[in-house]
Amino acid sequence: MLKESFFYRRETYDEIPEFKATNEKYDLSLMELPYQTNLHLEKENEKIKLSDINRYPNIDCNIIKNKLCEHHEIDYDNNILLGNGLLEIIQTILLSFSTDKTTIIIPSPSFFMFTRLSKICRTNVYKIPLDINLNIDVLKFIDAAKKNPNPIIIIDNPNNPTGVLFKTEDLKIIASHCKCPIIIDEAYINYSKNNSTSLELITNFDNVIILRSFSKIGFAGLRFGYLISNRDMVSYINKFSLQYSLSDIKLKLALEIIDKNKINKEHIKNIKKYRDEIINKLSNVENVFVSNSQANFVFFRGDKNNIAKFNHELIKHRIKVSIFPHNYSEITNNSIRFSLGNKKINNIIYSLILKSF
Ligand SMILES: Cc1ncc(COP(=O)(O)O)c(C=O)c1O
Repeated sequence: MLKESFFYRRETYDEIPEFKATNEKYDLSLMELPYQTNLHLEKENEKIKLSDINRYPNIDCNIIKNKLCEHHEIDYDNNILLGNGLLEIIQTILLSFSTDKTTIIIPSPSFFMFTRLSKICRTNVYKIPLDINLNIDVLKFIDAAKKNPNPIIIIDNPNNPTGVLFKTEDLKIIASHCKCPIIIDEAYINYSKNNSTSLELITNFDNVIILRSFSKIGFAGLRFGYLISNRDMVSYINKFSLQYSLSDIKLKLALEIIDKNKINKEHIKNIKKYRDEIINKLSNVENVFVSNSQANFVFFRGDKNNIAKFNHELIKHRIKVSIFPHNYSEITNNSIRFSLGNKKINNIIYSLILKSF
């Protein structure tokens, strides 16, 4: 219990749930890629030149930004901002736009960190439930952006936790009708059909910001992500970001990954295959609704007792998945989200589903 009067934001502290890292044998709640990528950096010691560790990072980030643009087939025009993963970038964006009136408008459900970071950055939150098909309600977003002062729209696409991929066309309608920053978090986009990015929107809409992360494609431990937008937007947000927050070592590793094409497309393909197989099987299980996830996880709902039984089985096998608090959203009641693991884990999960439902 915090008692001292100098904990000035005690109320916020009390509102924010504890963040606990667990160490279950198999953690399928973090949506990591279950395969490792060897970066071989110890053997190429000259790449990590630690002799200049007494200096602030001085690697030319333009090289990395340029390469990222090449990778995304867009022109580099100071339109990229790098960060220590998307969490840091989202926080920086919120700080850049937060006034005493700012409201973030998000789908419900969506990534829990949107709400958490919004509390930390003192913005209000306005949640718009997904419709019965788990799609975004475009008109409600437009209406909310008109009614709330200083709005910021944040949409995770594919959505976490449903994995549903929203149409770029719908996001385009929102971008064209709302005169406010529209942040499209594409952390899971590599797992979507045909890599359905909405990156094209940055060409015609100066309010759109696309977020990309290395975390879900094999490099969660690196903590590296970036935003892509236009030069003005990046210049604006950059002023609110921490200087020198990315270490030289991290930048060199990121460069190695991009340069040597270390993002393993076969691994991603495998995960998509496992995902579709499990979704297929689950859709034949009675009284289970499974979403059409386009991410590296599966989301399904079922009868309360079956879900409890399944979770009990998972705990017995020391497998951790995500179960949502009752007030998280209507859609997440009696539901489970788990990321795909290796073949063995996926088979265990599937056999436990059959046993529980
Ligand atoms: C939608 C979404 N965005 C961002 C993140 C976090 O990204 P990063 O690891 O780059 O901070 C997650 C992690 O689960 C996520 O689900």
